[in-house]
Amino acid sequence: MRRARPDAALFIGSGKAEEIGAQLVEAAAGMVLFDHELSPIQQRNLYRLWNLPVMDRTELILDIFARRARSHEGKLQVELARLEHLSARLVRGWTHLERQRGGIGVRGGPGETQLELDRRMLSVRVKRLRAQLGQLRTQRRTRRRARDRRPAFAVSIVGYTNAGKSTLFNALTGAGAYAADQLFATLDTLTRRLRLPCGAEAVVSDTVGFVRDLPHQLVEAFTATLEETAQADLLLHVVDASAPDRDEQIAQVDRVLDEIGATDVPRILVHNKIDLVGRAPEVALDRYGRIERIWASAAAGQGIDLLREAIDQQVALWREARRHGAPGAGAHDTGADSSESPDVPEHPEHRAA
Ligand code: GTP
Repeated sequence: MRRARPDAALFIGSGKAEEIGAQLVEAAAGMVLFDHELSPIQQRNLYRLWNLPVMDRTELILDIFARRARSHEGKLQVELARLEHLSARLVRGWTHLERQRGGIGVRGGPGETQLELDRRMLSVRVKRLRAQLGQLRTQRRTRRRARDRRPAFAVSIVGYTNAGKSTLFNALTGAGAYAADQLFATLDTLTRRLRLPCGAEAVVSDTVGFVRDLPHQLVEAFTATLEETAQADLLLHVVDASAPDRDEQIAQVDRVLDEIGATDVPRILVHNKIDLVGRAPEVALDRYGRIERIWASAAAGQGIDLLREAIDQQVALWREARRHGAPGAGAHDTGADSSESPDVPEHPEHRAA
C-alpha cells in the first residue's frame, strides 16, 4: 500500500488493518512480519488488534544475526543490539506493564516496579557487554598491528546478503589454493590465506552480508567488524547478477562502504551467478587497463581464474606503490597508538576509516 506517512497508531490505516486482519484469519496465520521498522506503540496496537505476534524488520534481522553469529565477539554484539532494541520497547513499555497493570490502574503499582527492575537489569547487562566489547576491540587492534607488520595483501569480500560471498570465498581459497586456514577467533569475519598465480600471498576475508536499511543498532554494533573492511587493500564487491534489484543492492553496499570510510579502497565488482543469466565469464577494464568488473559463477567455478588474475594485478600495483613509498603515508592502523609505525609504508590509495 501507499501512504503519505505511516499512521502513528497502526503504521497502516485502520481500514487496511481490518482488511489484513480478515486475511490473517483466512490464512490461519501464526504471526505477522513487517518489512519496516515499527514503533513500540504500533507494534502493541497491531498485536492487540490481530491477537497475533507482530515482528518488525529490525527484530527479524536481529534474530537472523543471533543465529548466524559465529564468534564470541559477534554474539556479544548481537546481544547488545537486541538488548538496546528491547530497552526502547521497555522505556515506552508495554511488556510487563501490559500484564501487570490490569486491575490496579494506578501509577506506582507493581507494574511500574517490575518495569523499573527490568530496566535496571538491562542497563547493568548493557554496561557489562559494552565493557567486554571494548576490551575485545583493543585486543583486535593490537593483533592487527602485529599483522600489519607482515607484508600480506588484504582482500575483503563484501556484498549484499545472498550475493554468493561465502561461495566465492570458498571457490577462491578452496582446495589447493590456500596455504593455511585461519579463523580469527574474535571476528565474525572468516579469513584464509590465498596463494596467487604470481607466487605472492593474499589474506582473504569473508564479511557479514549487507542488507538494505540495516537496523541502526546493528550498524553501530558491527562497526568494529566493518572497520576491518575499510582497512583492506582490495574489496571484491560481489553482486548477484540474477537479482532483479541488483543495481539497488550495489548502491546499498556502496553507501555502507562510504559510511565506514572505505571509499578509496580499490574495488572490483564481481557479477556472480552468471550461470543463472546465461553469460560467459568476462572482464571489463577501466581506462587505465585495470580489471574493474568480472562476470563469474562461484558455484560453477567459472571466471575464478580471471578473478585470481585480477587480484594478482592489484597486488602488483600495491607492491609498486609500496616500493616507491606513498606520499604522506603514515601508520597503517587507525588505533590509538600511532607512534608505532609499521615497517612498511602505507598503500597510497589506502585511507584510514
Ligand atoms: P550471506 O552470508 O547471507 O551474506 O550470503 P553470501 O553472500 O555469503 O551467499 P552464499 O555464498 O551463502 O550464497 C547464497 C546462495 O547463492 C547459496 O544458495 C549459493 O549456493 C548460491 N550461489 C552462490 N554462488 C552462485 C552461483 O554462481 N550460481 C548459482 N546458481 N548460485 C550461487
